[in-house]
Amino acid sequence: MKTAHLFLAYLSLLTLCLCVCPSRAATSEAEVLMRWKSSLSSSASLESWSVNNISNHCRWIGIRCNDEGSVSGIDLPVAGLAGTLDLFHFTSLLNLTTFNLSGNYLNGSIPAALGNLTSLTLLDLSANLFSGGIPPEIGCLTELRYLSFSNNYMVGEIPYQIGNMRKVRFLDLGSNHFETPDWSRFPTFPFLTHLNLHYNELNLEFPHFITTCLNLTFLDLSVNTFTGQIPESLFTNLLKLEYLDLSINGFQGPLSTNITNLSKLKGLLLGDNYFSGNILDTVSLIPSLQILELYNNSLIGEIPPSIGLLTNLRTLALGMNRFNSSIPRELGLCNKLTDLDLSRNSLSGPLPPSLSNLGNLSLLDLSYNSLTGEILTSFITSWRKLIALEIEDNEFSGELPSEIGLLTNLNYLFLYNNSFSGTIPPEIGNLQNLSALYLFTNNFSGGEQHPTRDRKPTKYVEAGPFNQ
Ligand SMILES: *[C@@H]1O[C@H](CO)[C@@H](O)[C@H](O)[C@H]1NC(C)=O
Ligand SMILES: *[C@@H]1O[C@H](CO)[C@@H](O)[C@H](O)[C@H]1NC(C)=O
Ligand SMILES: *[C@@H]1O[C@H](CO)[C@@H](O)[C@H](O)[C@H]1NC(C)=O
Ligand SMILES: *[C@@H]1O[C@H](CO)[C@@H](O)[C@H](O)[C@H]1NC(C)=O
Ligand SMILES: *[C@@H]1O[C@H](CO)[C@@H](O)[C@H](O)[C@H]1NC(C)=O
Ligand SMILES: *[C@@H]1O[C@H](CO)[C@@H](O)[C@H](O)[C@H]1NC(C)=O
Ligand SMILES: *[C@@H]1O[C@H](CO)[C@@H](O)[C@H](O)[C@H]1NC(C)=O
Ligand SMILES: *[C@@H]1O[C@H](CO)[C@@H](O)[C@H](O)[C@H]1NC(C)=O
Ligand SMILES: *[C@@H]1O[C@H](CO)[C@@H](O)[C@H](O)[C@H]1NC(C)=O
Ligand SMILES: *[C@@H]1O[C@H](CO)[C@@H](O)[C@H](O)[C@H]1NC(C)=O
Ligand SMILES: *[C@@H]1O[C@H](CO)[C@@H](O)[C@H](O)[C@H]1NC(C)=O
Ligand SMILES: *[C@@H]1O[C@H](CO)[C@@H](O)[C@H](O)[C@H]1NC(C)=O
Repeated sequence: MKTAHLFLAYLSLLTLCLCVCPSRAATSEAEVLMRWKSSLSSSASLESWSVNNISNHCRWIGIRCNDEGSVSGIDLPVAGLAGTLDLFHFTSLLNLTTFNLSGNYLNGSIPAALGNLTSLTLLDLSANLFSGGIPPEIGCLTELRYLSFSNNYMVGEIPYQIGNMRKVRFLDLGSNHFETPDWSRFPTFPFLTHLNLHYNELNLEFPHFITTCLNLTFLDLSVNTFTGQIPESLFTNLLKLEYLDLSINGFQGPLSTNITNLSKLKGLLLGDNYFSGNILDTVSLIPSLQILELYNNSLIGEIPPSIGLLTNLRTLALGMNRFNSSIPRELGLCNKLTDLDLSRNSLSGPLPPSLSNLGNLSLLDLSYNSLTGEILTSFITSWRKLIALEIEDNEFSGELPSEIGLLTNLNYLFLYNNSFSGTIPPEIGNLQNLSALYLFTNNFSGGEQHPTRDRKPTKYVEAGPFNQ
């Protein structure tokens, strides 16, 4: 009885003390942090987190306090931390507004008690080893502006409670194993500008809620198994989009001409899907485009002269489709191009001389078409930055300019299965960086004289034997 009274007296004293001197609470925050630190198997970077320094915790590495000395931020990215959040006592750190543990080796699951941190505006747990699901209590974090779980090993359905985060601007759940939730329970996110669901296990149709997030500038759904058509509302609503990546999915159908309404697009990446129809006339009216990747679809039609309007293009990848025109001379206006892939289509005719304007090219792949004519000396002398020149399986003819020896950055030179004639220029021997050279099935003369004999061995060299 007596002890109980004493205990109660002690308790009320403690409560009183808690009320009058905030340093008591602060100490307990420090103790709570120390307890988490001691649960970690690697925490060398937290040297300043020490019992000798417990009253000084606002100056510990990675800790920020509010004016009253209570912890309001934990910022410990790439700090070599290993362990779990199991002993992180969330309910003692209710003033936290920012929490960045990105790029550590933290594993285990995300505790449901995280939902107590209702003042959080920024939560970055990306690039760790977390597993398990997103706790539905995440929906209590209604102040969040920034949320990233990207690049972990997390699983399960994305909880619809995420929809409570009405203020979120940045949401990145990419590179995990998340599965498809009932998207119809997801509301609009009026402030969302960045949504990344890349590389998960999401399937079924395009999530409708996305087309209601009118502030989106960045959308990445690549590397999932989504199917079906792209809703028209994507093109008519998301007018602020600058980057749209739907690559490596099972999307299908013709792309609406309303895609031109996405007039701010810098990156349009739709490769490895089942898109069909004629689209180039339309997308060539989006002059801000820098990256246009449409490879491995079922697109048809010509490469239109209007492609020359895309003067900001860095990457144009149209390979593995059914484009069936010649290469328009206007393509030469796109002189910022570094990667040009037109391979595996049904392109015909000669290369327009204007392609000698493409002096920034590092990759040129025209292979597996029916292109004809000569490789002009003016091309070769302009294309000094080329790392890969792949023009195999076409109908190119004439002699190979000896200037080919100037392309000293070349790693890959694939000329096989064309109708090149004359001698193989010995200058090819100057190409010290070549790791693969294929010349077979051409009409070169003097095939037995191996032009590459006198230099550093190339890893894969195939020259004379298949020539006459
Ligand atoms: C206490 O922390 C401060 C700030 O990080 C540091 O400068 C100081 O060396 C620490 N003192 C001890 C005894 O660890
Ligand atoms: C977290 O820290 C990393 C590394 O400094 C940084 O790249 C990232 O932007 C930070 N997260 C946020 C939301 O500021
Ligand atoms: C949060 O900070 C306030 C002062 O801004 C303080 O009174 C309160 O005790 C702190 N809460 C916790 C759980 O430390
Ligand atoms: C976390 O990693 C440690 C060290 O690799 C391992 O022993 C432990 O089992 C892991 N815990 C979980 C929950 O994955
Ligand atoms: C903290 O979170 C846990 C788990 O969600 C919950 O049971 C508990 O009531 C919460 N505590 C506070 C103080 O909100
Ligand atoms: C977009 O976000 C801004 C603030 O960044 C906000 O004022 C505006 O209402 C939002 N627009 C829409 C359509 O929700
Ligand atoms: C383009 O959008 C308009 C108005 O939003 C719509 O009426 C039209 O049907 C759309 N075009 C196509 C090809 O779907
Ligand atoms: C989309 O762009 C086309 C062509 O520029 C225009 O006729 C149409 O009105 C636009 N639609 C919307 C919904 O803005
Ligand atoms: C082309 O894209 C489809 C759909 O994503 C994929 O299944 C297929 O493997 C791709 N083909 C190649 C050669 O990459
Ligand atoms: C290209 O293919 C379309 C059908 O897909 C055909 O109508 C057109 O004539 C072809 N053009 C050329 C130049 O072969
Ligand atoms: C290469 O691209 C730059 C812009 O990135 C451009 O200014 C320059 O003219 C291009 N070079 C050539 C040789 O076309
Ligand atoms: C060479 O190209 C022709 C037509 O371009 C094609 O029919 C043939 O299969 C190709 N041969 C080899 C060995 O690739």
